[in-house]
Order: sequence, then C-alpha cells, then structure tokens
Amino acid sequence: MRAKERHIALKNVGKINPESIEDYIAAGGYEALKQAVRSEPNEIVASIVDSGLLGRGGAGVSAGLKEQFTSEACLSCDERYVVCNADEGEPGTFKDRIIMEHDPHLYIEGMLIAGWAIMATRGFIYLRGEYTTAIKRTRRALEAARAEGLLGDNVLGTGWAYDIELRKGAGSYLCGEELTMLESLEGKRGYPRIKPPFPAEKGLWGMPTLINNVETFAHMPAIIRNGTEWYRSIGIGNSTGTKIFTVSGNVNAPGCYEAELGVTLRQLLEEYAGGMQAGKSFKAALLGGAAGTFVDDSMLDVPIGFDTLKEHGATLGSGAVFVIDSGQSIREILHNILRFFAHESCGKCVPCRVGTKQLLVQLGEDRASEDGSDNTLDELERQARVMARTSLCPLGQSPILPIGSALKYFRSELNTTQG
Ligand SMILES: Cc1cc2nc3c(=O)[nH]c(=O)nc-3n(C[C@H](O)[C@H](O)[C@H](O)COP(=O)(O)O)c2cc1C
Ligand code: SF4
Repeated sequence: MRAKERHIALKNVGKINPESIEDYIAAGGYEALKQAVRSEPNEIVASIVDSGLLGRGGAGVSAGLKEQFTSEACLSCDERYVVCNADEGEPGTFKDRIIMEHDPHLYIEGMLIAGWAIMATRGFIYLRGEYTTAIKRTRRALEAARAEGLLGDNVLGTGWAYDIELRKGAGSYLCGEELTMLESLEGKRGYPRIKPPFPAEKGLWGMPTLINNVETFAHMPAIIRNGTEWYRSIGIGNSTGTKIFTVSGNVNAPGCYEAELGVTLRQLLEEYAGGMQAGKSFKAALLGGAAGTFVDDSMLDVPIGFDTLKEHGATLGSGAVFVIDSGQSIREILHNILRFFAHESCGKCVPCRVGTKQLLVQLGEDRASEDGSDNTLDELERQARVMARTSLCPLGQSPILPIGSALKYFRSELNTTQG
C-alpha cells in the first residue's frame, strides 16, 4: 500500500465491466441515490456542504455551497439544470477520462444525487469530442439507467422527472471554462460570458444551473453512503477527501493515481510513479497544467491540498503533475505553454488577443540588457500581470501563473538560456 492511497472516484476501475449496469449495482451502485431520494433535497445539500467537498475541475469551489445557491435561485423558474463538465482540456490531465471509460455510472449517479438536491429538471454532460470510448460508454450507461427507471419521467417511482443528455464538446480549450461551455451547449460560438451573473443564478438558457466536474460528481455517492464525518476524516484541513493526480514526464510509471489530499509530491513521485527514470534527476514539476504553477524540489515534502499549495503560491488545479528532469529546459516548456495560450485565445478581448502573442515575443527577446539586468523578464511578468487584471475571462488571467512561478524558481536559468 502506498502512502495515503485511497480510492473513492477510482474505486471500481478495473474491477467491474463499465458496460454492465448489473456489475455497478452489484458493487453497491445506485444505493446512494436510493438513500438520497428518501431524504429531503435540502438535507442532501447540507450533506455536501458539510462534507467540505471542493470542486475537482480546477478552481476548488465548495460543491455544497454551489448546490445551495443553485437550489435557492429563482424559485419561480420552471427549469433548473445540472451540467457535468467533461471537456477535460487542461494539458496533462486525463483523470475524467478514466472515470468515464471505466465507471460511467459513478458520475451519472453523482449527477442524479446533485439533480435531486437542487430539484433539477434536466442534466447535460459536455464531453470532450475526442474521447470516443468515454462517449460510447456514457451513452450506454445512460440508456441502461433509463431502462432501470433511474432516469426519465419518474425516477425510482418518486414522481421526479429528470433525464441526462450527452453533448459532444466543440474542441476548444476555452469551451471547458464554465460560462463558455454554457454558450457552446446553447449552440453558440465558444465565447465567454461576463461574470456575474453566476451560473447558479442565471446559467443555461438563463435558468439556475449547477456545474461540476466529472470527478466532483464521482465523490457524491460515497459522501451520501458513508456520511460526511467519514468524508471529512480523509484529507488535510479544508481539503477533504481524495484527489486524482495525473503524473506525466520522465518517471518510471506515469499514470493516473488517486490519493488522500495531504499526500506529498515526493510520495507521488517515488511511491506512485516509480521514481525518476534511470539517469534522470528531478528538477521541477508543473502542477495543474498549462494554467498551473512550476515548483522546485523545495516543495517535494509539502502536503498537497488546495490551501497548503496556495500558501506557497502554487496551485493544485486539475491535479496534473508534469515532472521535469534536470535535462529539460524551463524556457522551452514555458514557451510551449505560452504558444498554447496564444493558440487558444478566442480573441474577444484585446489584452489577451494581443497579450498572449506579445508574451511569446517577450520570452524570445534577449534576456539581459547591456548592464546585465534582466529587465526583459521583468517586462514579461509585468505584461502577464496587466493581462491578468484586464482580460475578460480566466484564460487571459492564467499566463501569470506559469510565468510568475517559473521566475520565482528559475529566474537565473531563464536569464542564461537562449531564446
Ligand atoms: C480556460 C479554462 C478551461 C477549463 N477547462 C475545464 C475542463 O476541461 N474541465 C473542467 O471540469 N473544468 C474546466 N475549467 C474550470 C471550469 O470553469 C469550472 O470551474 C469547473 O467546471 C467547475 O467544476 P468544479 O467546481 O466541480 O471544479 C476550465 C476553466 C478555464 C478558465
Ligand atoms: S481573455 Fe482571452 S480567451 Fe478570454 S475572452 Fe479575452 S480573448 Fe477570449
């Protein structure tokens, strides 16, 4: 057993046939839903609030409070929606794919529990178009759930009408951003909306909408079945429960690992990912994908949680851990990240449309001026900060994260390497 190893979202992976609802039910599946519909919706909301579950899609917002706001918004509205963000576009992230391919009923059950909690009328899954196996298995799971009376006009004989529809993602990174995703679901071009209003208040087609990530939904059945005290006993501080980490780079066993929050980067690297490959030594990790932060070996023993990382200026984000060895160039990696942002910028606002291109140019400039100062790097950071303050949506606010952290730990390397 590896340190802090515990499976909640991946508990059935490799153990059941993902195309068999019977297998899922035999493993205790849909018991939590049955329990939930015997309770009042507000009791379910209270349980998710008490569990301390934070969203696993990147921002780490309280899943329970979102349910509470959505359930209390616009009581006169006829429709109320649950949307599952299954777009999984963050580079280096492949955790939702594993859940969807290997245990699709788990997150569907989570969407049903959340649907009951907010008395939703419909659910939508916005699923990355390239994930053909996940699409196929989710479709099959939805059909099987419908045939069992778990979805449809009268869920489990309660009189509650709720069905879930699968929509393929439009293929842009930005469409994973929640408000852009709503535009895309409405059939429009993937441009972001201005916040507020928040989706809880005015979401899909102007109706109260609860949006969560696949992994977030996958935690809800276990919370309802085992109770909030059990859930709160796992994790570290306010970061309760487990998290899936997708470890990539020159390690011996790159992959998708679930561990209690509070696990350290060193444990993930050595006990889960099998250590660095022969002849390679650890230099850095990029945590949370392109919109994430670099850390160096001083962070190897910090327990990983939403707050603990934040205290060190780092991010957990989607749980991507890209391991960088001493033979790799931070400049090259940063350059690739900035190219990615420039490519994915939708162009709606000037600071990001022009700024993402300008950051690339700036990184390519000669580093040191004649007096040896590194004002080009200062300028790079300054521009990214201006972008973060003036861009319309979180994409334009993201480049400062990898840039700021690369400069914090690797300024001298960036200063001396060639553009
Ligand atoms: C540019 C961008 C892309 C995003 N892509 C995803 C994504 O692919 N999947 C996801 O769950 N969240 C993504 N997010 C975060 C969502 O906006 C949102 O915070 C999340 O779906 C909420 O779910 P959670 O509270 O369960 O984490 C993205 C955010 C940004 C700014
Ligand atoms: S910040 Fe970038 S991605 Fe967001 S609206 Fe502006 S141009 Fe589009």
